Amino acid sequence: MKSKKLWEGIYWVGAEDWDRRLFDSLIPLPDGTSYNAYLVQGQEKTALVDTVDPSQFDLLREHLQSFPQVDYVIANHLEQDHSGLIPYVLGKYPEARLLLTPTALDLALSHLHVEEKRIKTVADGEILDLGGRTVKFIHFPWVHWPETMLSYLQEDRILFSCDLFGSHLTSSELFLREDHLAWEPAKRYFAEIMMPFRKIIQKNLSRVENLPLAYIAPSHGPIYTRPQFIIEAYKKWIADKPENLVVIVHVTMHGSTKKMVDRLIKALAERNIQVQPFNLPVTDTGKLAMSLVDAATIIVASPTVLTGLHPLAAEAVFLVNALRPKALLAGFMGSYGWKSRALEQLKAMLDSVRFEFLNPVQVKGDPDEAALKLVDDLAEEIFRKHQAAGLL
Ligand code: FEO
Repeated sequence: MKSKKLWEGIYWVGAEDWDRRLFDSLIPLPDGTSYNAYLVQGQEKTALVDTVDPSQFDLLREHLQSFPQVDYVIANHLEQDHSGLIPYVLGKYPEARLLLTPTALDLALSHLHVEEKRIKTVADGEILDLGGRTVKFIHFPWVHWPETMLSYLQEDRILFSCDLFGSHLTSSELFLREDHLAWEPAKRYFAEIMMPFRKIIQKNLSRVENLPLAYIAPSHGPIYTRPQFIIEAYKKWIADKPENLVVIVHVTMHGSTKKMVDRLIKALAERNIQVQPFNLPVTDTGKLAMSLVDAATIIVASPTVLTGLHPLAAEAVFLVNALRPKALLAGFMGSYGWKSRALEQLKAMLDSVRFEFLNPVQVKGDPDEAALKLVDDLAEEIFRKHQAAGLL
């Protein structure tokens, strides 16, 4: 397979991974993924921007066959899906230098075992001259590791953004044909990968916005021909104000907790509050993560198992705590048999977020109408707090 010419002197040398269905042994990939690597030729020097996942070695080797010269390998990010074949590339091109941020140096040594003499660190704002083409390096930490940077090809106004703005969307078309096709995959990607770093992206996004941009070329998913589309989407997703939305993560064993969930959905809908329930035994983690991007309130509904949360509820709470969504409120409801410590467990697990806790609804056994009225009270409390936050 040949590389693909994108523009004069700029080639895609990446890989499409149509069949991959799981990333990090965790993240569902309904549309597969791609690892984009780009080769940029100046009049004097040639740079390779990122590599591909080691599983796609054969493709990268084939793509590079027609390029006898690479002078620089730019590593925007050291996670192995982009950096894993850097040792191979440095072996193929013995004169090439590896360019990365000072923070990435240690990772290149420990993760890739690259010889330090092959590495040159680049400063924020430093310019690499390829001859008639210059690359400006923009340090942009935590998209998605601490060492990340973006590479901006100034004359062509192309931003190589690696994970930032990426999407797990495999397509035979390298350019995004219609913006709407990328909305869900890009949001899913943001939710799973970028959401914990929302505040840092808020701080740094203007550095991208202020660039003259013709294209954004991420390392996953298609190239954006209208960069403003994905920048505006990110501005919405990183904004502090949530939507008038309640996410309910729930699981039931004998139907008691489910009765409470059904009642809460109804009571919230009657109050014009949007609800997205996730029945955990059949939940797509990516869909749940996407809802967490917008939700103002998160309700965990779980029966008690061995005095604690149902393991599936505990897993969902762990995910919420790790993703650090912008939600303002959290609540708990559930049925128990004789004794429960589930609420205490839930609160202890949410140690990296600052949610205000709503009054819990814990019911012994099967909820009767009096118990379900407590669920109505919970809906009313959510309504009042959403109203006070200006969400309604
Ligand atoms: Fe696509 Fe953080 O690697």
